[in-house]
Amino acid sequence: MLNIKIEKAKTLKQKPDFTKLGFGKYFTDHMFIMDYSNEKGWHNERIVPFGYIPVHPASTVLHYGAEIFEGMKAYKTADGYQMFRPYENAKRMNDSAERLCLPTIDPEDFVTAIRELVNIDYDWIPTAEGTSLYIRPYMFGNDETLGVHAVHNATFVIILSPVGSYYAEGLNPVKIIIEKDDVRAVRGGTGYAKCGGNYAASLRAGKVAAEKGYSQVLWLDGVERKYIEEVGAMNVMFKIDGEIVTPMLTGSVLPGITRKSAIEILKEWGYKVTERLLSVDELIEAAENGKLEEAWGTGTAAVISPIGNLCFDGVSHTVSDNKIGNLTQKLYDELTGIQWGKNKDSRNWCLKVKI
Ligand code: PLP
Ligand code: COI
Repeated sequence: MLNIKIEKAKTLKQKPDFTKLGFGKYFTDHMFIMDYSNEKGWHNERIVPFGYIPVHPASTVLHYGAEIFEGMKAYKTADGYQMFRPYENAKRMNDSAERLCLPTIDPEDFVTAIRELVNIDYDWIPTAEGTSLYIRPYMFGNDETLGVHAVHNATFVIILSPVGSYYAEGLNPVKIIIEKDDVRAVRGGTGYAKCGGNYAASLRAGKVAAEKGYSQVLWLDGVERKYIEEVGAMNVMFKIDGEIVTPMLTGSVLPGITRKSAIEILKEWGYKVTERLLSVDELIEAAENGKLEEAWGTGTAAVISPIGNLCFDGVSHTVSDNKIGNLTQKLYDELTGIQWGKNKDSRNWCLKVKI
């Protein structure tokens, strides 16, 4: 049970134009912080004005990258707001914590902390089409020593950012390049955990991709460099000859909550959805012989993002005439309809909060 101390900001920030948000550029007036030590467990839970966090120069996170995070969203409704499957994020955060030897958090405390913070910064939830309040809970190891070991001290923080679409393209198809050299994760590594190090390892290929005009990198598995894994900030799905194929969760792919939800929706709609190993050769062959009907990514930030172009080995393949495919659009409409409270939430996915 949390006992959150609240210190309100003395002056509130000027809010940005909610129709021109981009992603992760603005932050709300407050943040949640809680400390952990092996002796005291989680303690000193507080909501304070948004600001810098002092860290010791030897802090574990600065040297050995002990950091995990989550990404989720709050959507404004007629009488408050709602969050999409927040207990799934709580669970994944604990799975990540277990992998990196960071302390776990009671899922109820995780959700309560977010609720209390969003309640205070409720006015920051944007309402313009395609916008939401992005919630970024994160935790870092905070021992003040250079020894390499499971941490004894950690800090858990939640910050909030009103966002529009993740990609500059919005709902227009993105261009993705399949990476042959760098790998993001290997089985037995940390691929399934949402830890900062995975993203650090992805930056070089992402930079090269951006220089070539691609939005993101599509990773291949780290062992055989053969099987499709995921994109930098989203899982991927392909409609091949009427069937939906998505890479199976082998341990090096992030188990996306949007992915899981999309699979449930697609199966309910009667589609055959197969989670399996999908080789890049099979994917490119399908693109070449016209069997790759649609491709899209799934993610909290990315939502459902159509892929209009796939580049492999210097050859660029157009998908779905570089337009959003019918099924991609239908899935986007259904999922965002549930998240924005416009469609019936028959699966009880949303946690509704009245203000
Ligand atoms: N894969 C990666 C590497 C991600 O960063 C994300 C974003 O969270 C996803 C997949 C999609 O996960 P989710 O749908 O839970 O947001
Ligand atoms: C998310 O979709 O929540 C993510 O974490 C992706 C990202 C911005 C790295």
